[in-house]
Amino acid sequence: MAKATDPIVIGKRTAKNRVTMAPTVKFIAGEDGRVTEDFVVHYAERAKHECAFICVEATCITPEGRLAPTQLGLWEDGQIEGHRKLTDACHAYGALVVPQIHHGGVGTHPACGSAVGPSAIVRESFGRKQEIKELSREDIQRIVGLFADAAVRAQKAGYDGVQLHACHSYLINDFASALNKREDEYGGTPENRARFGCEVIRAIRASCGDDFIISARVSGCDPTVEDAVIAADQYVKAGCDYLQVSSGIAPLDSLAHDESLPYNRTASLGVRLRAALKPPVPVSLVNGIRTPEQVEYLLSNDLIDTVDLACGLLADPAFTEAILYGAPYHKCLSCRGCGFGPIHNRLCPAMAARGADEFHFRELLEKSKG
Ligand SMILES: Cc1cc2nc3c(=O)[nH]c(=O)nc-3n(C[C@H](O)[C@H](O)[C@H](O)COP(=O)(O)O)c2cc1C
Repeated sequence: MAKATDPIVIGKRTAKNRVTMAPTVKFIAGEDGRVTEDFVVHYAERAKHECAFICVEATCITPEGRLAPTQLGLWEDGQIEGHRKLTDACHAYGALVVPQIHHGGVGTHPACGSAVGPSAIVRESFGRKQEIKELSREDIQRIVGLFADAAVRAQKAGYDGVQLHACHSYLINDFASALNKREDEYGGTPENRARFGCEVIRAIRASCGDDFIISARVSGCDPTVEDAVIAADQYVKAGCDYLQVSSGIAPLDSLAHDESLPYNRTASLGVRLRAALKPPVPVSLVNGIRTPEQVEYLLSNDLIDTVDLACGLLADPAFTEAILYGAPYHKCLSCRGCGFGPIHNRLCPAMAARGADEFHFRELLEKSKG
C-alpha cells in the first residue's frame, strides 16, 4: 500500500515522495524567453515545501512555436544560465526538476509563427478562423531535432530530465489526435500517430543518455481512450520513463465516470491508462486534487503512482506538507483565479488568505486594481 511519503524511482533517479508539481505557464518572460528571478523564487518555494518532482511550465523549443511572446524558452544557449539558477535553487531542497518542453502546434500564437500541425485544416479557435499549415516530412525531422536540442540545453542547465508536452492540443498531441488526417507513416493507425512523439523521445535519449528522465505528459483520450493507451505504450517502448496523464482534444463528456469517486473524470484518465497498460514505468494523474484525503485514496488503493498538482500548489505550496504530514494549508477553491484572473479580474482567495507575496499573485493584484 503506497503512501505519499514513499520515494519512487523515475528512470535512473529517485523522487523523495509521491507529490509532483504540474506545469503552469505564467507568461511573464521577456521576448528573450529567459528565466528571471521571479521564476526561480516561485519554483524554489514549491521545492522548499517538499514537492519531490517539479515540472517547470511549458517552455518553448523554438520562438516560432510559442503560445505567446512572453513564454519561457530553451531555444538558444543564452537561456541556459537562467535555467541553471532555477535548477540549483530546486536541487538545494532535494527536488527533482524538469522543464516541460513544448511546441504550440495548432495553438501557436500568430504573433510568434504559423499554426502548424499534422494536416492542413481550417478550424474555429477562440472565435476566429484559423488555418493550420501541414508539416512536411522535412519539417517534422527539423522539429524533432529542435526538441532534442532543447533537451540538451536542459541537461546543460542541470535539469534531471524533460517532460514532453504531449497533451492539451499542442504539437505532439495534435499528431496523436483526430486532427491527424495524414496518409503517410505519421498518420492512420494509433502507432503511426504516435510516431512523431516516439521520434522525439528517441532523439532525446540518443542526445542526453540513459541517466536523464524523459517524461511524457500525454492525453489519456485522443482520439479515444483505447488509442491513447496504444500511444502511451509506444512512448514507453521508445524510452519514456514516466507517463503523466492529462486530457487532450477529444471531449470527455461521453466517458462513463462514477461521480461518487473522490477524483474527477479527467483524473480518471490516469487511473484508466495505468490499469489498461500496466506499464513498467510510473504513471501520474492530474486535475481537481484539492485535499490530502484524495491523494491518500488514490495511492493507498494502488490506483496511481504519483499525484500531480497544479492550482492546489499555486494556491499554497504548503499543500505538499499537508499531504505528507498533515500540516495546515489554504485550500484551492477551483475558482480558476490563478489561470484566468487577469481576464475575469478575479484573485485567488487562497493566495489572499495566506498573504502571498509572489509575482503571480502580485501581478494579478495590480491588474485587478488597474
Ligand atoms: C495558470 C495555469 C497554467 C497552466 N499551464 C500549463 C502548462 O504550461 N502546461 C500544461 O501541460 N498544463 C498547464 N496547465 C494545466 C495544469 O497543469 C493542470 O493540468 C490543470 O490546472 C488541472 O489540474 P489542477 O486541478 O491541479 O489545477 C495550466 C493550468 C493553469 C491553471
